[in-house]
Amino acid sequence: MRIDVLTLFPAMVDAPLSVSIVGRARSTGALDLRVHDIRTWTEDVHRTADDTPYGGGAGMVMKADPIVRGAEAIATDAGSPPVTIILSASGRSFDQTMAHQLSEEPHLLLICGHYEGIDDRVRQLLGATEVSIGDYVLTGGELAAAVVIDAVTRLVPGVIKAESIAQESHDPANAGLLEFPQYTRPAEYRGLAVPDVLLSGNHKAIAAWRHEQAIAKTRANRPDLLKKHQPD
Ligand code: ADE
Repeated sequence: MRIDVLTLFPAMVDAPLSVSIVGRARSTGALDLRVHDIRTWTEDVHRTADDTPYGGGAGMVMKADPIVRGAEAIATDAGSPPVTIILSASGRSFDQTMAHQLSEEPHLLLICGHYEGIDDRVRQLLGATEVSIGDYVLTGGELAAAVVIDAVTRLVPGVIKAESIAQESHDPANAGLLEFPQYTRPAEYRGLAVPDVLLSGNHKAIAAWRHEQAIAKTRANRPDLLKKHQPD
């Protein structure tokens, strides 16, 4: 899968995606990540990428032209336009369903807003979807882009084992429940024993216990999800 990113701060996107599973996916070629500095497509000596907002107000707005021309250069290089997303606190909520949908696309372009946002003509001209990673405001879209890329990359076939995806929190295949608690050796730690059932070797009993625990955890941490829970 190919993902291009347009940003004023390339290191902020590149650094967290250079290690661990995504770093490995980049080395094996499962993920072709290309992070571009928007200032590459500015034309003045100061490499101006922002300006004051029409209508007044605080802060600066990112100019349309460098971003639109950057996106056009990427589409020309790829041979067709990618699915394009603008990271913004006012976008549609990102979730695991959207991560699955995006992981099936051959090519994504993520555009990172900064300051007070991006001239809306970028969204209109590129047919972009605005996406938010949660109801809080970041300093810019870079860490949000890294979050989206991380969540999408791990769903690309071959990046991690299919079994690891099957039973996890937020997976639509997991009936909307959070993941059950996990334990590893030792069997007793600081007076706390691993639940007996997990040592029993009884797979049916283990599955029943995990399902019960998943419901209890969802009730405690995310009662809103339990309302949507589809019992199987
Ligand atoms: N930019 C600033 N806040 C953001 C958020 N919550 N999600 C995506 N992009 C953002």
